[in-house]
Amino acid sequence: MSVREIRLFDDPILRRKAKRVQIIDSSIHKLIDDMLETLRDAAGVGLAANQVGVPLRVCVIRLPETEEEIVLINPQMVRKAGERVIPEGCLSIPGYVADIARAETVRVKGKDRHGKEIRVKGEELLAQALEHELDHLNGVLYIDHLESLDELRKVEPPSEEDEEVEGEDAETGDEGERQRAGL
Ligand code: CO
Repeated sequence: MSVREIRLFDDPILRRKAKRVQIIDSSIHKLIDDMLETLRDAAGVGLAANQVGVPLRVCVIRLPETEEEIVLINPQMVRKAGERVIPEGCLSIPGYVADIARAETVRVKGKDRHGKEIRVKGEELLAQALEHELDHLNGVLYIDHLESLDELRKVEPPSEEDEEVEGEDAETGDEGERQRAGL
C-alpha cells in the first residue's frame, strides 16, 4: 500500500465525471488499498478516486469514531431524505470549511471490493460523506453548493499533534470542524 498525492483545487481532474469500473481486478484492489492508506494518512473521512488522479467511480469512507471503513465501487444514490445545514470541508480544498445543506439520511447502492452488491444507509457524518463523495465522482465540489465563495471560513489544517491526541476524549470544540474538513 502507498499514500497517493491528493489532487487539490483547481486540478481539472476534480471536474471530470468519473467512469464506471467495468472489471474489479488487481489494479482496482491496489487503488482501493492506496486510497484507504491515503485517507488514514490525511486523517480524513472520505476520498474519491479522482482526488488521487484516477477518474473511476470508486470512493472510500472511514468513520473516525468507529474506524469503520466503507468501500464503494460504482455507487449510486438511491434515496435522500430531510435537510440540515452543517459545516463541510474537503481534502482537496484544505484549510477551509463552509456551512452547506445536506440530506439527513441517504441510501446508496454499489459494489464492494469483491464485486458484491451492497447498500449503505447513512445518517449524520456518514450521510454527509456519502453525498460529498458521490458529488466528487460527478465532478462536483462542495463549494459548488455555495451561493458565494465568501461563505468559506478558514480553519487550521489537521496537525500531527492532533493525530497524537486522536481517540482521546479531551477534544476541543474546533476538532469537529477539523474532522469534517476531511471529506
Ligand atoms: Co472532498
